[in-house]
Amino acid sequence: MTLSLCFFAFLCLILFPDHVAQSQNVEFVFHGFKGQEASLITEGASFTKPTGLLRLTNRSNFVTGHAFYTKPVPIINRSSSSSSRNAYSFSTSFVFCIIPPGSGRGGHGFAFILSPDKHLPGAQDEHYLGIFKESNDGNSSNHIFAVEFDTVKGYNEPSDSEGNHVGININGMSNPVAARPAAYSEQGNEQNERDIKLESGDRILAWIEYDGQQKVVNVTISPAKKPKPSKPLITLQKDLTSILLDSMYVGFSASTGEKSSSHYILGWSFSTKGVAPPLNLSQLPAPPPEEKSLSFKPQVTAVTATLSVLTIILLGP
Ligand SMILES: *[C@@H]1O[C@H](CO)[C@@H](O)[C@H](O)[C@H]1NC(C)=O
Ligand SMILES: *[C@@H]1O[C@H](CO)[C@@H](O)[C@H](O)[C@H]1NC(C)=O
Repeated sequence: MTLSLCFFAFLCLILFPDHVAQSQNVEFVFHGFKGQEASLITEGASFTKPTGLLRLTNRSNFVTGHAFYTKPVPIINRSSSSSSRNAYSFSTSFVFCIIPPGSGRGGHGFAFILSPDKHLPGAQDEHYLGIFKESNDGNSSNHIFAVEFDTVKGYNEPSDSEGNHVGININGMSNPVAARPAAYSEQGNEQNERDIKLESGDRILAWIEYDGQQKVVNVTISPAKKPKPSKPLITLQKDLTSILLDSMYVGFSASTGEKSSSHYILGWSFSTKGVAPPLNLSQLPAPPPEEKSLSFKPQVTAVTATLSVLTIILLGP
């Protein structure tokens, strides 16, 4: 029995090599990362909390953090009948939260990335988002595709440009296309675009989809409780085949700078064989606790102010 199964498998391998390659497709879904710690490699400021939250960075200044799916993902379909290579259609969805400091604006942001290397040696903080560094920014030998969720405008951008943005990055930090400000369109009312503040502390759902046949990347975001908008925020016609290597590490990178926020991923799904499995919001870990302290902030400030005034009155002449 076992022998005939082995023989059958062997026969398949000879007769349908393409078919066997198809079975390399990768698909996963994580509703939080509790018990799934081994599925991720985290580095720098990133780690999985006992609650299952993936924290990419805390609010320390000038830090970077990465989290990659442990195994490399075959991303290029190498047809054996010809020497052609073509990127698979892939898609991902994730829920994130960016918690700014109690006062003022935070920074910098995070990105979903496809990288040849699970370590990004020397990658810099601030606007490099822990992905690139000054010496390799824009170099086509990077083979990195990323979608950034950035809350600070880039160093080479006009001072009045909008910081709160979503953009595509290919081998460097400049965006072939970016949406400023980050926004979503309402289902059934596509003309009505509403701004989304990425660093609101609220849960935001993101979808990134690449069609390997049409060679189109779509990026869509919406507040977590809203249905998926039918109109993407960003559509880019781009053949990623020459940018991507045969297998890539998929994951996230984030950084802070002088401005800092904590960046969290609550749930993540990914697929190279079609639409990434939908995330069930009710199965996600509770949002990061700082969210609560943020909403108590006004009262805390009021109490502190009152106490200070009292102290001044009591100690005064
Ligand atoms: C791009 O990177 C390669 C490999 O690291 C390096 O040899 C080359 O000099 C770089 N090109 C530029 C323009 O920096
Ligand atoms: C990208 O968005 C366009 C416009 O809504 C849609 O026609 C296309 O099917 C989408 N492609 C993918 C891969 O999601």
